[in-house]
Order: sequence, then structure tokens, then C-alpha cells
Amino acid sequence: MNLPSLKERYQFKSEPAPSAQPNLLTILNSHRGRTVSRIFQPFTLRSVTLKNRIVMAPMLMYTGQDDGKVNDLHVAHYGTRALGGIGLITTEVVAIEPRGRISHTDLGLWSDEQIAGLERLAGMIRSCGSKSSLQLAHAGRKSMVDGVIVGPSAIPHSEKHRVPQALTTQEVQAVVEAFRGAAERAVDTGFDCLEIHAAHGYLIHEFLSPLSNTRDDQYGGSPENRSRLLLEIVTAVRSVWPEDKPLIVRLSADDKAGEGGNTVTQSARLGLLLKELGVDLLSISAGGLTLVFDGEIVPGYQVEYAAQMRRVLDLPVGCNGSITSSELVESILYSQSADLIYMGRELLRNPFWLLDVARKAGVELPLAIPTYARATGPYERGH
Ligand SMILES: Cc1cc2nc3c(=O)[nH]c(=O)nc-3n(C[C@H](O)[C@H](O)[C@H](O)COP(=O)(O)O)c2cc1C
Repeated sequence: MNLPSLKERYQFKSEPAPSAQPNLLTILNSHRGRTVSRIFQPFTLRSVTLKNRIVMAPMLMYTGQDDGKVNDLHVAHYGTRALGGIGLITTEVVAIEPRGRISHTDLGLWSDEQIAGLERLAGMIRSCGSKSSLQLAHAGRKSMVDGVIVGPSAIPHSEKHRVPQALTTQEVQAVVEAFRGAAERAVDTGFDCLEIHAAHGYLIHEFLSPLSNTRDDQYGGSPENRSRLLLEIVTAVRSVWPEDKPLIVRLSADDKAGEGGNTVTQSARLGLLLKELGVDLLSISAGGLTLVFDGEIVPGYQVEYAAQMRRVLDLPVGCNGSITSSELVESILYSQSADLIYMGRELLRNPFWLLDVARKAGVELPLAIPTYARATGPYERGH
């Protein structure tokens, strides 16, 4: 009897790859004979080229200690998303002074002793194949740390929050210097980009909005005066941050806190000034000034603000807000509503979201661990 050889018996036939089943965009693409997907197109800001359009949004993980230093959990958390092929990894808030922390578990950069840990984190993100961005912040009246909390005026964030002490004019200027000092230290960390958090109701946003700023010195009153703190911070930071590295500002383009708040019209005027001062990208968000969010939360609910800012300013923008599907990302990029897509919670759920997208689109990703491509390419027998 002629038995099949072991080799013949166990020979596996390649099955058609799931990635070979094209989605709608791929079908359209093949008909027109050109590449449709925009997610995987590189994007350059100054000397920094991102390998794709997906950014990990800044998200505070509450995993630090009172010393504000990076620990192993931070390195593992950000490193994982970088291994997942994300183009730009943004850190959570990094406080410029101890009372500017949201919680006592925040990272900090108010001391030279905090440089080494952030340098290790930037190095890890680089080794895992992504570019890195460090978000500098001051929590203002939203701080939950013990002791005095500060803001532009003695107006609390909500009835549940403590009343902040209004900063004196000299103290406001000290905040500018603290941002400059932190930016100088950030240079030594080796991060690729620096982001200033001026959104979501934290200190800088509190100065920008007439709902939280009722000062009568040069930092309050007119829109110009309310913008002064941010503009002075950007000037100070840009003066020490390397010329060839990008500076990003995160803005809530609309306060979404009811009558009398800032809208995209005021934010566009501010954006023009930021562009002149050397800001390379605006990360456009909305709300956070109070507990009210005056609007519906649906997928991509903040994209319209990014699109308006981009159109008016002719400056690269990022957008965020419940963006979880590659179809939505493609349509935002296609309609030129934004240049970069900041993704938050989806990347907490699924650090390897982009590998799935690449697999379905039949795209081979440049990955730090090339063997991961075996999970994104056509189905083959593993060994
Ligand atoms: C747990 C958590 C922590 C966050 N921390 C920050 C932060 O440190 N800095 C910041 O600018 N935004 C922060 N955000 C807002 C996110 O960056 C993002 O704008 C928001 O989650 C909406 O995007 P998403 O729907 O994709 O999650 C945080 C959001 C979450 C869920």
C-alpha cells in the first residue's frame, strides 16, 4: 500500500489571508489603481517624521509616586503602545510644579532629579519604534493635591471643588518661569516633541476663559489679556526648546460650558498668534472648564472644531474624541479635517489596534519587532 509520506501528510495549504478580503476603501482603491489609505502616510513636523497619523492621546494613569518620577509601569504602558506601531506617543500630564499636579501620582519635571526617568521613557519609546511627545501642564484649580490650590480668580471648578487662591501678578510670572525651567529639563530627556496643555479647564485654560478669569491686571479682562499667560509660556518655552523640534499646544477650542464662554472664533484668533510664535501643531479638544459639557458625545464629536481651526489658520491640527474606527479616521483625514488623530481610550482597550487595521487593509507596517508582521500578514502556519 502506498501511504503518503509524513511530509505529504502534514503539508498545510496556505489559506486565503483575511487581509486579502478587501474592505470598501480597498475595493475603490483597486478600481482607481492608487493607494487610498491615509492612516499610514507619514507626517513631518520640523525635523520629526511620524510614520503614520495615529497619536496616543495624553492620558493620566495615576501610577506614579509622590516624587513625580517615572517608574516601570510608565515604561511598560507607553512602550506597549509604541510596539503597537503608533506614530506618536504623548505622555500623560507632566507637572511643572508640585501644586500644579492633578494628583500626587502625577509625573513631574520641576526638578533635575526627574530628568533621568523621562530620559529612560523617551529612549524606550524610541527603541519601540515611535516618536515621543511630553505634555507639560499645570492643574490650576482642578488640582486634587493637599494644600493651597491656585487659579486666575477665586472661582471653584464646581461646587464639589475647593476655592482656589487667585495668583498674584508676580506669581503668574513665576508660573511662566516654571514652564521655561521644565522645558529646559525636557531638552535633556530627549523627547522628540513638547506639548503645552492649555485645554480641559486646567490653569492655562482657566486664564483663557472669561468664565473662570475675572482678573483686573494684565492677565485678565480683554481676550488679549486672558491670552497673555499662554503666549508668554509659549514664548519662554520656544526660546529654550530646540529649533528643529516641534512644539504642540492643546486647546479646548470651545468651552462648551454655557453662555459667555470662549468659542472657536476666539480660539482661531489665539491660534493665529500661537502660529506666529512658532507653534507647529494645535491639538484641538473642547470643554473641561466646568462639569457641564454643552453638547452631544458621539463618535468624532470634536472633529468640527479641529476642521474649522485648520481651515482658518492653515496650520496642522490634531483632533480627538471617541474616534475608534479606521473608517472614521480615514474620513477625517480624507476630508482634510485634521492631520493627526489623537486616540485615547481605544488604545487603553487595545494597544495593538493599529496592527488589526493594517491587517485588514493589507498594509505591512514598519515595526520595531519585525516578527509582529507575521500577525498582520497573510495567514500561514505558525511554528
Ligand atoms: C483616563 C484618562 C486620562 C486623561 N488624561 C489626560 C491628560 O493627562 N492630558 C490631556 O490632555 N488629556 C487627558 N485625557 C483626555 C484624552 O487625551 C482624550 O482627549 C479623551 O480621552 C478623548 O479621547 P478618546 O475618546 O479617544 O478617549 C484623559 C482621558 C482619559 C480617559
